[in-house]
Amino acid sequence: MATIGVFDSGLGGLTVVRELRRLMPKSSIIYLGDTARVPYGTKSEATIRRYAVEDAEFLLRREVDVIVIACHTASSIASDYLKALHPETAIISVLEPSVRAAVKASNSGKIGIIGTTATIRSGKHKSEILKYGDFHVIGKPCPLFVPLVEEGLIEGQIPELIAEMYLEQLKGQIDTLVLACTHYPLLKPTIRKVMGDDVTLIDPSEEVAKVVKQKFDDGEEKGTLEVYLTDIPPGYLALIEQFLGEPPDSIVRVSVFE
Ligand code: DGL
Repeated sequence: MATIGVFDSGLGGLTVVRELRRLMPKSSIIYLGDTARVPYGTKSEATIRRYAVEDAEFLLRREVDVIVIACHTASSIASDYLKALHPETAIISVLEPSVRAAVKASNSGKIGIIGTTATIRSGKHKSEILKYGDFHVIGKPCPLFVPLVEEGLIEGQIPELIAEMYLEQLKGQIDTLVLACTHYPLLKPTIRKVMGDDVTLIDPSEEVAKVVKQKFDDGEEKGTLEVYLTDIPPGYLALIEQFLGEPPDSIVRVSVFE
């Protein structure tokens, strides 16, 4: 049985863990949330790359068999770098599976990408999509979506107004939209309301979990879930519940350098 290591800038990556637990309930998962240094989406490329290397090395010291990069910002900016640094390790980022799903889903060839400022600035989704052919890609950063979700504001007037503001320029222009941030799947009903029923929403947490399941066998017994956090922020239990939907077996505060 493989031990699956997952890292994210904070707690949002637990949306990926939730899907992994659904598809591979008998696998053990070690999750690292870099809650002391979140958000990554507003930081420079050099800093995001350095943080991602430290996060991956923390998981490698715990002898995981595969590293899943649940953070879209780290995936966009650091996944190629990490793969080159650790060629012997299986590293799966959320980016490629979601891009593949978007390309498959789009009939018009017009795809929207929403994510953090760093994710959209990197242009990584666009360059990956263009490897599949002549697609039209529109990227739009939605920086207020992360704090909205963290405040529990996922449905109602306020998230709808903000979603309208960000998504206005995408309406009628695309047939597929990639929710390229750990937090955005929680805003799906609001994004669906604003974008309408004709746009396919790609949830990367589902796509990456499918890829891990294809590559690794599930275990024999109930899998464990260990959560390591670099800080225990106030209100973290409610957020864990929101993203994960269940309490983990253990929550331990660590330094990535331990
Ligand atoms: N986890 C980040 C992502 O998926 C969102 C939060 C942050 O900015 O660190 O891009």
